[in-house]
Amino acid sequence: MLDNHIISVIGSGTMGNGIAHVFAISNKVKNVYLVDLDLDILKKAKLLIENNLKRQVQKNIITDVIAKDALDKIICTTKIEDVSQSDLIVEAVKEDFNIKKIVFKQLDALAKNNTILATNTSSISIDKIANTINKSQNVIGMHFMNPVPVMKLVEIIKGSKTDDIVIKKTLDYVNLINKIAVKCNDSPGFVSNRILMPMINEAAFTLMEGVAEARAIDEIMKLGMGHPMGPLKLADLIGVDVCVSIMKVLFEGFNNPKYKVCPLLLEMQKSNKLGIKTKEGFYKY
Ligand code: NAI
Repeated sequence: MLDNHIISVIGSGTMGNGIAHVFAISNKVKNVYLVDLDLDILKKAKLLIENNLKRQVQKNIITDVIAKDALDKIICTTKIEDVSQSDLIVEAVKEDFNIKKIVFKQLDALAKNNTILATNTSSISIDKIANTINKSQNVIGMHFMNPVPVMKLVEIIKGSKTDDIVIKKTLDYVNLINKIAVKCNDSPGFVSNRILMPMINEAAFTLMEGVAEARAIDEIMKLGMGHPMGPLKLADLIGVDVCVSIMKVLFEGFNNPKYKVCPLLLEMQKSNKLGIKTKEGFYKY
């Protein structure tokens, strides 16, 4: 793979700032454009990236020079037109098809013909997104895991129109950032969230029905099943709103009542108890 890649990330939230971080520390990447709706959000995202880079320096994962260089490479902007020269664009805006559709329509008009248009969606069909634009052969699912700088996996989802060359180049990009790509086909929730989300939803039902307290549910799954983190703590990390969106995609996608979202998750979303990002979810932060 050649050097001097230009990468762009749309959305600088939980996932977007992590995706910008991992590309910026690669010596084969020239610049990373990070796009969001307002400069305040971007300022917070850049500060978070700076702190996460510092933590990696302290743990001897990267050098001080790489961290400084990475931060300099990240260009924050509210103008989506700035991403027009990118080789790879990763969309990481809210898990809402209508919002993603608008972003993809903009990218379709402004990106180069061979730019990879990746989406970090955790559940929405790649074909559904790709079918809204002309350059549908360039659309692919690049599903990073949270927290991005730590987690090794990137789930790669091929749409029915995705070009073979786009798949190959995407796998090369995953390699470039020292992560491991695993491919799957387009289906609601793909592999990861089709299996993970019903477990989180069931954990919420278990709590709602008073079977056990949150801490007990998480301890049972950690100590008994060897999970590194309990399902309720994981929901707080992912974001309760994201969990609700994914359950809705599964429910509608499979038209099966077994994916009905737990009322407790809906209630938490309504009262803005979204997890770590709002300082309260199943736990307080
Ligand atoms: P988030 O809510 O933390 O961040 C979304 C960001 O996008 C916000 O900063 C928002 O201001 C920005 N945004 C919204 N509309 C925009 C637009 N038109 N242009 C530019 N920026 C815009 O969301 P999060 O959790 O980072 O999720 C992003 C995507 O990643 C979703 O599709 C989600 O399903 C997926 N995902 C989330 C994971 C998680 O653990 N939170 C894990 C893997 C994937």
